[in-house]
Amino acid sequence: MSLEFAFTPNPAPRPQDEVEQVLADPGFGAHFTDHMAVATWTRADGWHDAAIKPYGPFQMDPAGAVLHYAQEVFEGMKAYRHADDSIHLFRPEANARRMQTSAARMVLPELDVEDFLAAVNGLVRADARWVPGSAGERSLYLRPFMFADEVFLGVRAAERVTFCVIASPAGPYFSGGVKPVDIWVSSTYARAGVGGTGAAKCGGNYAASLIAQYEGYEHGCSQVLFIEAAGKDRLEELGGMNLFLVTADGRLVTPALTGTILEGVTRSSILTIAPELGLTPQEHRITPEWFFDGLASGEITEAFSCGTAAVVTPIGGFKSDAGEWRLPANGSHKTLALRNAILDIQYGRVPDAHGWVTRVV
Ligand code: COI
Repeated sequence: MSLEFAFTPNPAPRPQDEVEQVLADPGFGAHFTDHMAVATWTRADGWHDAAIKPYGPFQMDPAGAVLHYAQEVFEGMKAYRHADDSIHLFRPEANARRMQTSAARMVLPELDVEDFLAAVNGLVRADARWVPGSAGERSLYLRPFMFADEVFLGVRAAERVTFCVIASPAGPYFSGGVKPVDIWVSSTYARAGVGGTGAAKCGGNYAASLIAQYEGYEHGCSQVLFIEAAGKDRLEELGGMNLFLVTADGRLVTPALTGTILEGVTRSSILTIAPELGLTPQEHRITPEWFFDGLASGEITEAFSCGTAAVVTPIGGFKSDAGEWRLPANGSHKTLALRNAILDIQYGRVPDAHGWVTRVV
């Protein structure tokens, strides 16, 4: 059954001059548009009550299940304004499918790809004036999410669930923009374990990463790199982004998907376009020994993090309890070429050879 998202316009939308002020310097995740998409699922009736309606708080019972047992999943995607003012999404079906996979892991209901897309497209159309121009790498960040909304304290899958999409004009995720960031390699904390929820985009993974991120802040780092929990024998991912390494002989290496890391849409796009930039993509186990030796010997020449929010952000160096490794300053040539290649597709500055871009407005 496909959902109809009935539209109720916001009776008090933000004045245009205020919207323009926000779009001129949106930051990340701090401002929200006039509308949101919502739908409700109950075990008895399935998905229903779909709407695009004025943005506003949920009324939540203190016994709402998500507040206690964190049964929740989310997505991150962006709408891009092209030079001709049309607005486009980047691989939105990939986000829709990943939300299904995440939801299945968290015993949340499946939302059809077409319903997910109807919610996202409807919200982007309703709030099109909130999509910034491409200057300063700006876009409208979209946050679809789904949570257990049943008033019940027993530990079982909720029988009432809310799906929602909110939108937030965004600039670069890191306040320094495309400046290289330093990464803390945590030897104390793990993010996920085999058989756990590491491959699902659920809030708990991000909550679990926070303590290590603060450990990183204490060492002047912006993000944390996690090593596999049990054997400590492979690199995994950053708190909210995937990791790539470039080697002197032209390989582009990223940790293989082992069930403990997130399958990033940007990650998979980078693996696809790497050969176009003369790089050989490789997904495999990256041992800490090879990694630290490669940093020390110069075999690893570049490193970057990637994700919808971060796009492609160069890494300047890594720090851990055992020491510090710097990557060559001003050496992020392949990283920046990959970053520009992805952004050029997203902003429609080059032909969309992979069929990744979908026009919404
Ligand atoms: C995204 O890249 O969209 C994410 O969900 C990660 C988060 C750090 C913002």
